[in-house]
Amino acid sequence: MLRNTAAIAQKNTTLLKILGSTRSISNQPTIGRFTGKTNSSGTYTVPFIEGDGVGPEISKSVKDIFSAANVPIQWQPCDVGPIFVNGLTTIPEPAVKAIKESLVALKGPLATPVGKGHRSLNLTLRKTFDLFANVRPAKSVPNYKSTYENVDLVLIRENTEGEYSGIEHIVTPGVVQSIKLITREASEKVIRYAYEYAIAVGRPRLIVVHKSTIQRLGDGLFVQIANELQSEYPSIKLETQILDNTVLNVVSNPTLYKDAVSVCPNLYGDILSDLNSGLSAGSLGLTPSANIGDKVSIFEAVHGSAPDIAGQNKANPTALLLSSVMMLNHMGLEEHASRIENAVLSTIASGPESRTGDLGGSATTSSFTECVIKKL
Ligand code: NAI
Repeated sequence: MLRNTAAIAQKNTTLLKILGSTRSISNQPTIGRFTGKTNSSGTYTVPFIEGDGVGPEISKSVKDIFSAANVPIQWQPCDVGPIFVNGLTTIPEPAVKAIKESLVALKGPLATPVGKGHRSLNLTLRKTFDLFANVRPAKSVPNYKSTYENVDLVLIRENTEGEYSGIEHIVTPGVVQSIKLITREASEKVIRYAYEYAIAVGRPRLIVVHKSTIQRLGDGLFVQIANELQSEYPSIKLETQILDNTVLNVVSNPTLYKDAVSVCPNLYGDILSDLNSGLSAGSLGLTPSANIGDKVSIFEAVHGSAPDIAGQNKANPTALLLSSVMMLNHMGLEEHASRIENAVLSTIASGPESRTGDLGGSATTSSFTECVIKKL
């Protein structure tokens, strides 16, 4: 139990000063706010999709740490699938019901078969719950040196359409058409959220990353909507940047984006956010994300199922842990969030013997987890 909340909060504040600010925010945008309630015993029920490959190993780490930290959450195992209705990939009804009731879920990585089999379950989940914004912060870890230092980037990716609409057909043998769908409705939702997020985290610049020089209508509409909404958010300075410029700028000097939030259509966001992860940490094993919807939000690591290291006790659970920290902040459990975040970061900061292999260390998933628990 948290015996002395004030003392722990004080200790966390001190640790935060040492380790830098949180990756996630305790100040939440008004859009997509969590409205879930605890049950009669004061705990929240949260569906947990453990996922494929390294998913069960990193999920166990989260469960062990949450249990040691006495977080008031009861995990509900959640199987997403897949089932087919009229030839379309869908999420099983019990999973949909559980997530709709809890309004929040934590998710491990889900593998997607290449070129055959079911449609991406990640896409299906985003569509099923209209998770329109994917928030991906990428921040350097204190006392862990990667190629770049002091990286602190936040990218918000449109999450439901664009190049991921899944509308493709063969026009004639050898000619395939893939449709990039941009709608006013989805663009407005994600751009509004990005403005609100920038205000919530105190970053005065919103950068719309686009390629409207080529995709004149699609990206043109995205940029136009950002311009239209600007008058509603006068404290935020809107900038537009062509994707290639952003890529060059970000690898040349990531600190140019320290006071900004970037927002972009789906595919650009997918690629740029992996670049950001590489710049901040040199590993996908550290980057968390939040999929925000109007009612439901799902939190997940940016990385995939890492089949090359699955079942070997080698995976770094940090990205899923930091995603769970974002989830706790979203749910208003900020004290638990900062306590776990600090324990994770100070474990990585302790040195190579407590880091997993992707960070050049010798720790296993389970020894890393034990170390985090000791630091709670
Ligand atoms: P991946 O992210 O699984 O792996 C890329 C590289 O990063 C591998 O070398 C892997 O070992 C390493 N890595 C990833 N996570 C790590 C961790 N926690 N600790 C240490 N090293 C880690 O990407 P890949 O191989 O392209 O995809 C594998 C599968 O995952 C595919 O089926 C793909 O569709 C799926 N995927 C799922 C995602 C999701 O559920 N959100 C996101 C990305 C991919």
